[in-house]
Amino acid sequence: MNLERRRFDALIIGAGGAGLRAALQLARADAKVAVVSKVFPTRSHTVAAQGGVNAALANVVEDNWHWHMFDTVKGSDYLGDQDAIEYMCRAAPQVVYELDHFGVPFSRLEDGNIYQRAFGGQSRNFGGEQAMRTCAAADRTGHAILHSLYQQNIRAKTHFFDEYFAVDLIKDADGHVLGALAFSIETGEPILIEAKATLLATGGAGQMYRTNTNALINTGDGLAMALRAGIPLQDMEFIQFHPTGIAGRGMLITEGSRGEGGYLLNSDGERFMERYAPHAKDLASRDVVSRAIYTEVKEGRGVGPNKDHVLLKLDHLGADVIKSRLPGIRDSSMTFVHVDPIEQPIPIYPTCHYMMGGIPTNRHGEVVAPLRESAEEPVPGLYAAGECACVSVHGANRLGGNSLLDILVFGRAAANQMIEFLAENPHNRPMDDSAVDAAMARLHRWEKKGDGERPEQLRAELKKAMEDHAGVFREEGLLAEGVKKVREIAERFKDATLSDHSRVFNTARVEAMETENLIDCAMAASMSAHARQESRGAHSRVDFEKRDDEKWMKHTLYFLESDSLDYKPVRTRPLTVESFPPKERVY
Ligand code: FUM
Repeated sequence: MNLERRRFDALIIGAGGAGLRAALQLARADAKVAVVSKVFPTRSHTVAAQGGVNAALANVVEDNWHWHMFDTVKGSDYLGDQDAIEYMCRAAPQVVYELDHFGVPFSRLEDGNIYQRAFGGQSRNFGGEQAMRTCAAADRTGHAILHSLYQQNIRAKTHFFDEYFAVDLIKDADGHVLGALAFSIETGEPILIEAKATLLATGGAGQMYRTNTNALINTGDGLAMALRAGIPLQDMEFIQFHPTGIAGRGMLITEGSRGEGGYLLNSDGERFMERYAPHAKDLASRDVVSRAIYTEVKEGRGVGPNKDHVLLKLDHLGADVIKSRLPGIRDSSMTFVHVDPIEQPIPIYPTCHYMMGGIPTNRHGEVVAPLRESAEEPVPGLYAAGECACVSVHGANRLGGNSLLDILVFGRAAANQMIEFLAENPHNRPMDDSAVDAAMARLHRWEKKGDGERPEQLRAELKKAMEDHAGVFREEGLLAEGVKKVREIAERFKDATLSDHSRVFNTARVEAMETENLIDCAMAASMSAHARQESRGAHSRVDFEKRDDEKWMKHTLYFLESDSLDYKPVRTRPLTVESFPPKERVY
């Protein structure tokens, strides 16, 4: 097989908001940038982000970055690294104004300023009244951002490899990352993309779960590539369940709908969040609201013939507000459950939405790993940003509106660091042919046909195992059984083959490699969850109900090669302000 080779200064894997924000920064600094994306860039999952991006602009009510920082630390259940959180919250207004200048069509207030809505877990004055911090383009904010970033990249002459699947990173014996092997999904031809600096920006792995808000492409490709390159994954037990997925389907109904004044009802017609979060009510943090819905259903106050969901009431907002501020979720609701929220409440239930964990990075986007003797070092030439990275600004639970912020702030920060790295490392290092051969072997595996189990069958089993064993509430027996099931699936996958038909489509090869990636992510998530014997943020154990700062105020690391866990300390010291010490978390 011919192996085409191309050389760039920087390679970005993934064309969502983090990848495109980084690519733009690099291209504008005259770096030769390649972006590899398995879908056309504007179909990346950022396009699905609805409610908005947090920044303390104070356009509607008084606000400042320090309050935003407090809310984020508290939202993270004190597991977030406070240096990175301070950095992100301080940078937020600037990255939003940059977007405004890139052409993002934000909704506007009467005075022409950017519209900001209330979101969960936001407060003024360190836990006081509700803030309004989420900058929105109706309920299609991610769509607006992704399209603007793509257009700016075209203008800046970023080179796109559209519909190319990244197979593996190429790393030399000294630990330098030299680029990646990819293949064209259209032709099946492999391509070696050499780069002085490589950024992973491949998003999350929400497809580990059967019901989720994620695009089908969210299969943890970058996370698994990092694992195979010897880099551990951090805090993978912390998986966010968004309170308002369409019941039984999983599609996202934005938190912005509660920010606009919507609220949840149980079968008694009770606004039950008043019991669980007397102050913030329906705008408590996501982990709190998801647990409340789950508890209502479990205790028999669910709605519908199977009493298996609750209702999100919006009709009192009036047709004008729904049509102008929430047109997208009205569409989704009418399409998927034939409910017009102008007239009737939407049936909803928690659904897998986001991974707080990922590839460990510092606030400059450098991937850091305990690869050498010393505690932790940057992996030369490798960066990560967005949902696949764990900076960690979200800790054990992310606040709504902080994920678009994360991709913009750390996409840009990683690119700035890469620009410095390129100045100090102006030449491509020699290619490591044995690493290329290993990556090619992974690709070749799926050329062989046979009568082994099919990857799609194993993927379905994996999604069920994760849903059944690592959901909103967890417990020793359930988690141990989950680890066992995932491990068995991983074993069986070793003998899986594609169909015996004379033709194997490239898309089937992609799906097989994606499934392998999902299995690695699920192993990391289930083992990490099983080991953590406390309840913190989205990791809620019925057998260890309390947060245990003495034993568990630490980040988990999962290593693929040794199939083992280790831990590292939380960075509790901010950059310039006093740290926020752990407190009981009430809303
Ligand atoms: O509810 C939402 O609009 C989702 C936003 C987010 O996850 O940040």
